[in-house]
Amino acid sequence: MHQRLCRQEDFSDMATLSASAFKADGLFAWLHPRSDVYYGDFRRYFINRNKTLFNSCGTIIWVMVTDEKDAHWTGKSEIMGYAVWKRHGQTETAKAWQRDTLGMKLERMLLKAEDTFAWAIGSDRSVSWENVKIMNDTRGYTFFDNLHERWHLSMLAVGAQYQRLGVGSKLIDWGFDIAQRERVPVTLVGSPLGTSLYRKKGFKTCGLRETTKDIVGTIMLWEPSGMDGMFFKVQEDGTVVIKDPPSA
Ligand SMILES: CC(C)(COP(=O)(O)OP(=O)(O)OC[C@H]1O[C@@H](n2cnc3c(N)ncnc32)[C@H](O)[C@@H]1OP(=O)(O)O)[C@@H](O)C(=O)NCCC(=O)NCCS
Repeated sequence: MHQRLCRQEDFSDMATLSASAFKADGLFAWLHPRSDVYYGDFRRYFINRNKTLFNSCGTIIWVMVTDEKDAHWTGKSEIMGYAVWKRHGQTETAKAWQRDTLGMKLERMLLKAEDTFAWAIGSDRSVSWENVKIMNDTRGYTFFDNLHERWHLSMLAVGAQYQRLGVGSKLIDWGFDIAQRERVPVTLVGSPLGTSLYRKKGFKTCGLRETTKDIVGTIMLWEPSGMDGMFFKVQEDGTVVIKDPPSA
């Protein structure tokens, strides 16, 4: 297996992979309670979401694909999993990741219009718009506001037949390598399905993000080696406080 940057032609396979990988995820099951009946609509949601991320400023998508020498080789290179990374920050290093082009802006506008239209005519029959509204109302968490420079893992998905082979772990390693080089932390909000992998990789739990009492994400942070304790500290009562970042 090897990693490569995502291309436009990957969206269809990535959507198929996501629709099966996230079926068991509490958040997606709550947002898309009719995904079984309207599988096509659920899958289309991932196509639009990934296209939007692909065209977002500062976002990098890596896919892991099979090689000829892999046990899972089917005669063609298949997508095993993917990771969506976003570089936050204002430094020159951050800005180098945040290129934005007219084409990307136009693509985002079109996708937004498509989303609004889908909502207006109810073309995504898998979704609960009521739950989307609750989710959007709680989206603006401020936990990482003090961490101006950071990499954020926005999404990680591995196809069911490729899980427990180290794919998720390798996809995370790319973020660790770049964050180590840039001396910035890595952040994420993990679902219950992902937290054992993240803990194993060295992420620390910093808090919880509650969308409803049953839909709770774990706010996690990883510090580059040699920078332990620079980005957050655990207080005596067990709560975690993000510190102001050290100057470079
Ligand atoms: C969570 C997910 C990304 C893990 O990917 P993966 O490629 O299977 O993970 P890895 O093979 O790299 O796992 C490395 C270690 O993480 C832990 N781990 C991974 N999946 C686990 C699971 N389902 N249950 C418990 N521990 C798990 C294990 O310690 C594992 O090591 P081991 O296999 O030697 O025991 C994958 O299961 C997935 O895509 N799930 C559905 C989508 C999702 O929940 N994404 C995360 C959103 S926050």
